[in-house]
Amino acid sequence: MFFLTTAIDYTNGSPHIGHAYEKVLSDVIARYRRLHGDEVYFLSGVDQHGQKVQQTAEKEGVHPATFVKRTTKKFSNLWDKLDVRYDGWAETTDERHKACVRAILTELKDQGQLYKKAHSGFYSVRQEQFLQDRDRDEAGNFGPEWGEVVEIEEENWYFKLSEHTDWLKNFLETTPEVIIPGFRKSELLNALERNSGIDLCISRPKERLRWGIEFPFDEHYVTYVWFDALINYVSFAGYKAAEGSGLPDFSNVWPEGSRPVHVIGKDILIPAHGIYWFCMLHAMGFSDDSMPRLLVHGFWNGLGGDKMSKSLGNIVDPNELAEKFGVEAIRYYLVRDIVTGRDSNFDVERLVMLFNTELANELGNLCNRALNMSQNFTGGTLHTGGGLTDEETALQASLTQSIADYRRAMDEFEVAKGLEAISRHVVHCNGYTERMKPWELKKDPANAPRVQTVLYHLAESLAQCAILLSPVLPQAAAKIAAQLRRDDLLSMKLDDLKWGLLSDGHEIGKPKPVFPRIVLEEA
Ligand code: ME8
Ligand code: MG
Repeated sequence: MFFLTTAIDYTNGSPHIGHAYEKVLSDVIARYRRLHGDEVYFLSGVDQHGQKVQQTAEKEGVHPATFVKRTTKKFSNLWDKLDVRYDGWAETTDERHKACVRAILTELKDQGQLYKKAHSGFYSVRQEQFLQDRDRDEAGNFGPEWGEVVEIEEENWYFKLSEHTDWLKNFLETTPEVIIPGFRKSELLNALERNSGIDLCISRPKERLRWGIEFPFDEHYVTYVWFDALINYVSFAGYKAAEGSGLPDFSNVWPEGSRPVHVIGKDILIPAHGIYWFCMLHAMGFSDDSMPRLLVHGFWNGLGGDKMSKSLGNIVDPNELAEKFGVEAIRYYLVRDIVTGRDSNFDVERLVMLFNTELANELGNLCNRALNMSQNFTGGTLHTGGGLTDEETALQASLTQSIADYRRAMDEFEVAKGLEAISRHVVHCNGYTERMKPWELKKDPANAPRVQTVLYHLAESLAQCAILLSPVLPQAAAKIAAQLRRDDLLSMKLDDLKWGLLSDGHEIGKPKPVFPRIVLEEA
């Protein structure tokens, strides 16, 4: 089982391009793993509790429940639109999730992992956390990133995080593969050093926050939003679920000794996933072999290269983009123009350029030529033709190489590299066509077998490229398969990709442009 999750998006506002990237990246990985032959469970969802939601709902004069219902719709509608197909949908106000959080709290308390104590200190309303001296700037103040800071004293429940940090340090040092890409590991180890000896406050008094999951053994408190949200990865996988809950069987989705992949952005590695979540799982009794892998992606900066923010007005709205350029252009751009793990600047001109060159020109051209010339020169029937020249040997070798490069890249979640590998073969095919000039060859009837060979090589390449592209562009891949009159191509697995998917005598369909060029109106 390949269990893949995304971060659950905070339902305090509307989805932006960063959210869309994470979901599309995860959807591409899920589809790729299926193509690879794995059984996949893909979980995504929304994070609905917490102070910010309570505050925004208050401002808008609605109950938080009404508010999150409305904002949740914005997210789920967008994922439908972008063809993000998950198997499980996590909403943290779901009673089944709440029951799981309570069961975990009760168990941890019974095991002596929780305690109650009074604390007075400075609290950041925006970040919903108590601040430490190390959070002060050089002048000794709490910087603007913390928003309003107030001094409060209160009693709260704590999780004995500090009892797990030595284990975590050792675990990360001996199991580096759980942090992807690897360069993030040293940041995490440094943070762990700074955090050692500190326990995690996991409750909020109801006077301050009502919109959360009530403590099972202390009705004056609700659960800290991160403690609640992180548990979604197990609750919606069926952990401690009641009979007939409709949730999957946990031992099937997350069996002992398996490592789910959690796709998260770089801002929530430290401390949430990299420290809290690993320690929570350790306290819950998960073995080292069952700890998840964290695939930590980079950030999209907004228009102009700045960090996206409401105040700069440079937030990119994925809905508008999808309407303007089409869903597949957005999907392609989001995974093509960023190196997994690094940041990128969102740039509409690059979106258009990459679509027009790599899809409209190169792949669109291959598609058109393979189908059009087969219709016009060989009556729509493919024939393997005569003997092979060095050109065909080279073309077949190019495809083999591209498939190997694609698989290696995609296995490592390097989607941009995977797409580049496909492009290399498409470019090879277009160069081959230019050199072979089937439109010249066919003028002499004696060349008929040669024309057949050339056109067969183009169509077969197209068929295999459509399969490779299907995780990123499911609709385009389906159109190509339909035009080849081989809808079944898209249910094949990677190991089935051998030269000769299209048989001698196969009749193909009529071409219809799959990637119409994007033309930008002049501003
Ligand atoms: O952090 N580029 O929710 P969130 C790329 N609810 N990714 C970005 C991004 C950007 N500009 N901005 C945000 C939360 N993200 C919590 C998660 S998980 C148990 C709880 C990513 O809505 C961000 O890194 O603020 C995170 O992975 C996801 O979007 C949701 O962010
Ligand atoms: Mg965030």
